[in-house]
Amino acid sequence: MSQSILVTGGAGFIGSHVVRRLVNRYPDYRIVNLDKLTYAGNLENLRDIENKPNYTFVKADILDLENIRALFRDFKFDGVIHLAAESHVDRSLTNPTEFSATNITGTLHLLIASKESWGSDKRKRYYQISTDEVYGSAHDGSKFTETTPIDPKSPYSASKASADHFVHAYFNSFGLPALISRCSNNYGPNHFPEKLIPLMIHNIITHKPLPVYGKGENVRDWLFVEDHASAIDAIFHKATPGSVYNIGGNNEWKNIDLVKYLCRLMDQKLQRADGTSEKLITYVTDRPGHDLRYAIDSTKLQSDLGWKPSVTFEQGLEKTVDWYLANAAWLSNVTSGAYQAYYNKMYSGR
Ligand code: NAD
Ligand code: DAU
Repeated sequence: MSQSILVTGGAGFIGSHVVRRLVNRYPDYRIVNLDKLTYAGNLENLRDIENKPNYTFVKADILDLENIRALFRDFKFDGVIHLAAESHVDRSLTNPTEFSATNITGTLHLLIASKESWGSDKRKRYYQISTDEVYGSAHDGSKFTETTPIDPKSPYSASKASADHFVHAYFNSFGLPALISRCSNNYGPNHFPEKLIPLMIHNIITHKPLPVYGKGENVRDWLFVEDHASAIDAIFHKATPGSVYNIGGNNEWKNIDLVKYLCRLMDQKLQRADGTSEKLITYVTDRPGHDLRYAIDSTKLQSDLGWKPSVTFEQGLEKTVDWYLANAAWLSNVTSGAYQAYYNKMYSGR
């Protein structure tokens, strides 16, 4: 094997697409997927590649530093792509300590182990998968660039911003060859139905209310998850240590417009009368501190590394809907058990 790469959080939504891409495109790399398998981690996401000879799964917690050190000794990693995180803003509002532990301390553990193994060896790579939410809310007309000041507003984004600062500190203090990318909202197959798009798809299928926060005026930029994975691949292989890249779809939607578009698409796919799904839209109490708008400028990634998205939003959303309709068992498995309690706590009486 020419390289040994640790991917954390590879059983989650984005991580599963990153692992699949690396395993398939680089048969001479050993890809080690480390995941704790929280409620968001699901090995079903990787069934198609689990028997490939260059793939290894390790069930582990990034909070267990001694185990992380042991894995660095055993697998002699040349690179780390760190995705493992608590990722849902709503959960961070009620459970901030878990976000602080996983997202900040967990990141620090990976930095400690990387520095102990590599020092400042520029042939190695530590790559932090961050989020556009660290920039806070974008003002009218403006977009986040890589030099926009960090201004996180939720416990989730505060934990991710703190992790970014640690990554920068390790680059600055110890010369650790580190990279950071900050992406906008992803959508696509394997997305856990606590997030807007898969939650709406699930509720439309099951004829449940579609809970739109506030007036639905908040704006998000959406990117198909496989295009995020291709950007991660390009940045990991081509970016210079110390660099930061924004990743986005140049595809801003008001939540209510997106939900209505999805309703029309689902009516067609499910052969229901036009307007059936839209009648399920229910405006509910807003998320506290809800960032109004995320808007990302990914010019640097496009001009430096030649990356561009492979699908339009319309194509990506149709692929996504088709995937959920073809994978009813996946959806049913992840929405049984603890999901119902979460859903009731989050949405009933709201
Ligand atoms: P996800 O919640 O779907 O998956 C997170 C994965 O991390 C899960 O498999 C989970 O089991 C694992 N994990 C959690 N805690 C762990 C621990 N202590 N030790 C080991 N594994 C642990 O998340 P996602 O949406 O795929 O996001 C992945 C990364 O990308 C996160 O760092 C997130 O902040 C970032 N990101 C997400 C988006 C998005 O739209 N989803 C956009 C930009 C950046
Ligand atoms: O911007 C990148 C971020 O995108 C990632 O860092 C996060 O990990 C990811 O979860 C996502 O955060 P958001 O908070 O933007 O995603 P979410 O799907 O939770 O919400 C999208 C928008 O939809 C947001 O404005 C809140 C709104 N919403 C969400 C849910 C779950 C609703 O109106 N109703 C809902 O039921």
